[in-house]
Amino acid sequence: MSIDFLGRKQVRGLIISLALVGVLILGTAATAAAGHHSPKADKQAILLVTFGTSNSEAAKVFELIDAMARKRFPDTEIRWAYTSVIIRKKLAKQGKLLDAPVVALAKLADEGYTQVAVQSLHVIPGQEFDDLRAVVASFAHHPEGFTNVVMGMPLLTSVQDMERVARAVLKGLPAERKNDEAVVLMGHGTHHRANAVYPAMAFIFSRLDPRVFVGTVEGYPELDLVREQIRESGVKTAWLVPLMSVAGDHALNDMAGEEDDSWKSILTGDGIVCRPVLKGMAADPAIVDVWLDHLAEAVKHLN
Ligand code: CO
Repeated sequence: MSIDFLGRKQVRGLIISLALVGVLILGTAATAAAGHHSPKADKQAILLVTFGTSNSEAAKVFELIDAMARKRFPDTEIRWAYTSVIIRKKLAKQGKLLDAPVVALAKLADEGYTQVAVQSLHVIPGQEFDDLRAVVASFAHHPEGFTNVVMGMPLLTSVQDMERVARAVLKGLPAERKNDEAVVLMGHGTHHRANAVYPAMAFIFSRLDPRVFVGTVEGYPELDLVREQIRESGVKTAWLVPLMSVAGDHALNDMAGEEDDSWKSILTGDGIVCRPVLKGMAADPAIVDVWLDHLAEAVKHLN
């Protein structure tokens, strides 16, 4: 068909059609050139977040967590962040540079990671966890943030977690501990409502072993309640064990220190023979598995 046989209307129609095809071609080229408008390829990362510790002995347990996490998620980029400003500053002076969660997340976003699971290595879902959650949430809605960002819950979140951890703690006690000796577990404690985890743990332990007591440094139950329980039970020896992720400052000083107000000094004053155990919960692979199960649950929600 030659153009001569086309009427004016038809010619105009053909021109408009050709123009439309041109616009479509140009449009596609423009979209391809502006790469940031096309969807990014999925790139997964895990961020492990802890309060941190400046005690190098205690920090060794983080190496265990790191190794276990890498074994479980071998194909995923794994990073760490410390929430404590004081600890990060202390470590920076020793040349060890650790990021705050907000910095670690910004770096991941900048490096093109789109799918990120953040695992809280906290013991309870308390204030620090709430703060972390707020930081992570801000990246979900940020224009340069992630396509998908999810969080794994702290160690003691569900009743199942608490029972699992309680059994692991009892299993991990020194073999020399005799049944007629008490175990005093030192939890951190908090003004936050999540402090309820500690009396819940005390109850769970009491059902598993009536001579295992739970106290806290900064919450409830207080040491005085534990002293009452020890008196009532009539035991003469107490093993002092941190119910904390690492045997850091609280375990070394508030629990096992030589100062008059340490738990060891106070209980010794009550006539109890004290046997401190300087080992945090994160040194126990069975307990690390609880955190990593929470991480696996979170990772399920990534693409
Ligand atoms: Co503290």
